[in-house]
Amino acid sequence: MGEYLKITGGRPLFGQAMVPAAKNSVLPLIAASMLCRGETVIRQAPALADVEQSLAIYTALGGQAQRQGPAVRLRAADAQGRGILPDGPARSMRSSVFYLAPALHRFGRVQMPMPGGCKLGPRPIDIHLEGLGRMGAQTQWEDGQLVLTAPRGLHGVDYALRLPSVGATETLLMAAVLAKGETVLRGAAREPEIVDLAEYLCACGASIQGAGGPVIRVQGRTELQGTAYTPIPDRIYAATLAAAVASAGGQVRIQGCPAEFLEPVLAVLELAGCGVQRQDRAFLVERSRTLKGVGRVYTGVYPAFCTDAAPVVAAALLCAVGRSAVEDTVFEDRFSCAAGFAAMGAQACRAGRAVEITGVRRLSGARVQGSDLRGTAALVVAALAAAGESQVFGLEHLRRGYLGLPATLQSLGARVQLAVQEEQE
Ligand code: UD1
Repeated sequence: MGEYLKITGGRPLFGQAMVPAAKNSVLPLIAASMLCRGETVIRQAPALADVEQSLAIYTALGGQAQRQGPAVRLRAADAQGRGILPDGPARSMRSSVFYLAPALHRFGRVQMPMPGGCKLGPRPIDIHLEGLGRMGAQTQWEDGQLVLTAPRGLHGVDYALRLPSVGATETLLMAAVLAKGETVLRGAAREPEIVDLAEYLCACGASIQGAGGPVIRVQGRTELQGTAYTPIPDRIYAATLAAAVASAGGQVRIQGCPAEFLEPVLAVLELAGCGVQRQDRAFLVERSRTLKGVGRVYTGVYPAFCTDAAPVVAAALLCAVGRSAVEDTVFEDRFSCAAGFAAMGAQACRAGRAVEITGVRRLSGARVQGSDLRGTAALVVAALAAAGESQVFGLEHLRRGYLGLPATLQSLGARVQLAVQEEQE
């Protein structure tokens, strides 16, 4: 038995939609709250599979997590133990890596399997480990488990990241706020989620300057308090909704997310012929005529066109007149969704790190299988434009990152229905 989305395409989208809190902020925030003595309340913590897995790790480590509607209350002051992450949740997502620094500070030790997550090509954690090593942690492998120890605590360091990894910048920021002395992180990632984490930590008493720029300076503190905090909106969810309008046509006001968080994505959609009106913490996307190909566009680290939006933007360009190519410079294998595009009648070929598209006049509904989070969302975006019925499988991926996307699309006029396939005898 498998669940899928039954989508009958060809209906334009109209109305307004609210963007939920960013998964990629909430996940490091939950782990970071373990650094604090007091209670943290994350006011918006979407009930996504990855968020629930992170809460499972939090409680297995001895913290207390309590849901209160959209909020989650977190407290880890009494947590004790050997910092052993539970295997299932830790392997289920990349974000288990965010527990490395908080557990090292709290328990002097952390143990976990290699983190999982979307299969987008190699995803090493060498920068996380090298940076922590430079701060005094010792790393070893024991029976396939990664074990880090820091019996004498962590100390500040002047460290240049080999590349601006988002996760490694977050790990090292969490390590630095309670390390002894000053830390300077050079070549840091600059994504809004880094700034969000830094603002939360500062609200808890940390001293951080420069987050959002390439050099971050941190003065280590001896303790942090908790706080109540509202995370930033999900710019990738917003980009997905914008791509859905570009694909299906119509006019939708996307609310709760400033356009500046996803400017390069909106610029590509405008180049293709969409109208975008920027408003205060909202923007209006409109597509009334056939789109045109955009040539070759490249993803990059923030503030460039973000890698997570590449598949959904590619999906919106499948019927654009002329050629487009979307090349991902961040991950080697971003476009596993191209097979699903082709099943719907698209001319979309993977070439190295890119998907190369020659626009077709129309897509036809098909049975397609998503194999990662953004790729599955891209199949949904494509299906909204396809004539007839599509069946999009792989909802376990969608549930990791898109709170209520089918209901949101329904509210905008799309024909989207959750269905269950009975097992064949
Ligand atoms: C985060 C986001 C993810 C997004 C990505 C890039 C979260 C939970 N996930 O993932 O949605 O697609 O940023 O914006 O926030 N790398 C190394 N060594 C390391 C770490 C990374 O070589 O130690 C490489 C990766 O293989 C990848 C590149 O750096 O090619 C970028 O990865 P990174 O920025 O770390 O992404 P994540 O933090 O995993």
